[in-house]
This record gives sequence, structure tokens and C-alpha cells, in this order.
Amino acid sequence: MNICAVVMAAGEGRLMKTKHAKVAHKLAGRPMISWVKDALGQAGADDQVYIVGHKQEEVRSILGEDVAFVMQEQQLGTGHAVLQASHFLEGRRGCTIVINGDMPLIKSATLTKMLDRFEQGKYAAVVLTAETSDPEGYGRIIRDDDRNILAIVEQRDASAEQQAVHEVNAGLYCFDTALLLSALGRIGSRNKHQEYYLTDTIEILIRDGHSVSACMTDFSEIMGVKDRIQLQQAAALLNRRIVERHMREGVTILDPENTWIDDAVIIGMDSMIMPGCSIRGNTVIGEDAVIGPDTHLTDMKIGDKVQLDHVTARDAEIEEGTIAGPYVQIRPGSLIGPYCKLGNFVEIKNSTIGAYSQLVHQTYVGDADVGENVNFGCGCSTANYDGLNKSRTNIGSHAFIGSNSCLVSPVTVEDNAYVAAGSTITETVPSYSLSLARARQTNKENWVISRGRVRNQRVNP
Ligand code: UD1
Ligand code: MG
Repeated sequence: MNICAVVMAAGEGRLMKTKHAKVAHKLAGRPMISWVKDALGQAGADDQVYIVGHKQEEVRSILGEDVAFVMQEQQLGTGHAVLQASHFLEGRRGCTIVINGDMPLIKSATLTKMLDRFEQGKYAAVVLTAETSDPEGYGRIIRDDDRNILAIVEQRDASAEQQAVHEVNAGLYCFDTALLLSALGRIGSRNKHQEYYLTDTIEILIRDGHSVSACMTDFSEIMGVKDRIQLQQAAALLNRRIVERHMREGVTILDPENTWIDDAVIIGMDSMIMPGCSIRGNTVIGEDAVIGPDTHLTDMKIGDKVQLDHVTARDAEIEEGTIAGPYVQIRPGSLIGPYCKLGNFVEIKNSTIGAYSQLVHQTYVGDADVGENVNFGCGCSTANYDGLNKSRTNIGSHAFIGSNSCLVSPVTVEDNAYVAAGSTITETVPSYSLSLARARQTNKENWVISRGRVRNQRVNP
């Protein structure tokens, strides 16, 4: 069967109060409209046309070149929107899926079910519906005593009796393409909002003597997103699906409500995610890792057996067995080798750290290449910025950097060298040598007594 799809995405989304297109807002790391596009693609509807209007440039750039676009200058209703795609549909046979662009929760399996029903039953249209205790704002499904569909009535045009119906229209339909075109030409705008309702095509087709069927699904799949509250609700539902997918694949997730995982994330078997984590973008996590609590990863590559506690990291890689946290930040361009230990209040930026190196207390390493098995004391820093330019620091393997040292870049500490605590290093430290770069200590004996500065009384502030 020839299947094409019309996606309606021209509306302003006024209630979102946004500078962006409504359908550009992200859920689980992907724009709302991309969820719809993928569900359609997975159901076999590769031939897609998008009705765009408000912020159309943004919508076009999200969807790319492999779909078609039609401009709807004025948003006169969903019927008017689909009418704009007439020239795209004319002459086609088979089925046209029409879908609201603001229903990111739709599953491809449901689309497939509708297409099967459509094909087997020779219907003019198959409508997706759901039951909800709170049908506010949705079109109501009106059926006769034999449960046959008669019409879809929008809430604002519905009688009190119709408003009491709890079965609602999802905003997703499979139409016989030729019959859709014939019905579209006949819808009017005589309703409360003087809009052209796509939903009126259902009544027209039935009046023409065709039969229309409905597939019912769970409301959690059809929720439309009209404002930020519904955006959050939909995002939470998608997140739940993603979290459960990982749990089914062997990942322990202790607190699904407080764990936010983007759709593209990959997590290996027997890894554990503790409460309060967000794992974003194209992050890949290996097996047997322990992530969290309160760890935020974006586009990270994390090896097996890594443990991260209160870590924020982006665009970087951490190799097998490294332990970091609490309170560590890994910034873009960093590669932390295997079996390193990064302690509390450590920041690493655009640097490579060799295997088994330890930076355990309050240290900043930026624009540096650090060898293997290097030990940093407490409070070390690379002075990588002179106010105008950044330069690099090189530290060889097995070096020891004493507490409170400052390495002023560009500078090199060679393999097996020691830097004494409190040093400010500006020149190369050769292999196997110790560098002391600090003022010598002088002690003035009895200075306290001779100056009358004995402090033996406690002052109560
Ligand atoms: C629509 C349905 C309603 C259904 C609900 C499900 C109609 C008349 N009503 O109502 O029965 O229960 O969806 O969420 O179809 N759009 C355009 N151009 C327009 C108007 C809308 O592209 O001129 C797009 C919007 O951007 C949106 C989609 O169509 O993506 C749905 O429009 P919306 O205004 O949200 O329709 P509802 O009132 O929710
Ligand atoms: Mg809506």
C-alpha cells in the first residue's frame, strides 16, 4: 500500500509563550516534531509533507531535506492546513496519514495497527481515539447506539451531552487519499471559531455512505502539547519509556522519576544509575558503571566500571575504572585515562590525563597533557591563560606535583620529576629532579614576646 503522511505544524502554540516554534521544543533531547517524524518513518510512511507557518525556518531546519514542506500563510484550522497539501496528495492512491505535529508520544506500533485496520476493513478513514477522565480541550468522539462513529465534535461546539463524552480524538487519522481530498473540498467554517476543522471530514465521509473506524489507545500516547505544563507531562512520559527500556536491558535505575535520560543514550549491562542524574545527548556508558547521585553527563563517553559521584561532565571521555567525585567537573575536550582518581572540587578542561593518575583534592587542570601515574597534591593549578592567550602544560609520567603548586604555562614537567609544595613553576623541570620555587622560610626567634604580641586572652565577639 502506498502510504504518505501530512503533518500539521503551522500553529503558533500561543500558550507555550515562546520565541521558538512549538514543535521545536525538546523532549528527551529531541524536538517534538522529530518524535512524530520517526514514528511515521518506522511505520513505513517515508513520504512526508509538513504544513509549516509560524517560525517555519526553525521547523524546516530541524526536519532537513528528506521531507517536503507546504506553507500555510494563515492558520485557519486543521482542515485548511491539510488542504494546503492537496497538490502533494493529488493523483496518489492508497493511504494518507494525517497527524498533529504536537503529539510526540505516538508509537509507531499504534500507527501500524491503524494501517492494518485501514487496509483490512476497506475504510474511508480510521481515527485514533483514547478515553480520559479529563477530556478538556479535545474533540469528542460521537458514536451511535451500535458504537459506530458518527462525528467528531470540538469541545467549543459540543452540547452539554457531547461534552460529557470521555472518548477523545487523538489528532491522528488514516484516510483513503482520494476520499480525503473529496471531503476536504467540502468542509466549511461555520463553527464557534470560524475555523476549517479537519475533523469535519469524518462526518462528510460517513454522510457519503463510507464507513469510518476507530482504534483506541491509551491516553498517555495521544496527549497533545499545548503549554509548558503539558510539555513537562509529555517529557516525563517519554522519559519513563526510556528509563524502562534501559531497565529491561539490564541497567539498575534507582529513582526513575529523578533520572532524566535522552533518547540516544546507550548504557551497558549491570551499570547503576543513582538518583538525581541527567544523561544527555549522545552519551555512551559502559558496563558495571555507577553513575550518581546527582551526576549530569552530556555527550560523554564513559568506560566500564567508572564511578561518578556528583560529577558534571560534557563532551569528554572517561576510560575504564576511573573514579571521580564528589564535586568534579570535566569540561569539553578532556580524555581521562583508565583507573584515575579525581577527587573533590577538581576541574579538568581540554586536557588528557594518563592512566592511574590521581588528582584528588581541589585542583584545576586546563589545556594540559598529563602522563601516567602522576600525583597532584591539594590545590594545584595550571595557569593556562595569560589574559590574552591560552597555552599548554606538559607533565610527564610518574611526576609528583606538590600541594599548592602553580604551573605557569607554557611549561613542562618531565617524567619522574618532583615539584615541591607551594612552587610556582615557570621553567622546565627536568626528569628525576626536584624543583623548589618558593621563598625560603625565615624564623625570627622570640619576636612575639619582644613585640608584646602574646595572644593569651580569648575575645568574645
Ligand atoms: C485538534 C483536533 C481535536 C483533537 C486535538 C488533539 C481539530 C479541529 N481538532 O484540536 O479534535 O482532540 O487536536 O490534540 O483538528 N495546525 C496547523 N494549522 C492550523 C491549525 C492547526 O498547522 O491552521 C496544527 C497545529 O500547529 C498543531 C495541530 O495542527 O500541531 C493541531 O492544532 P491545534 O490547534 O492544537 O488543535 P486542537 O484544538 O488541539
Ligand atoms: Mg492541540
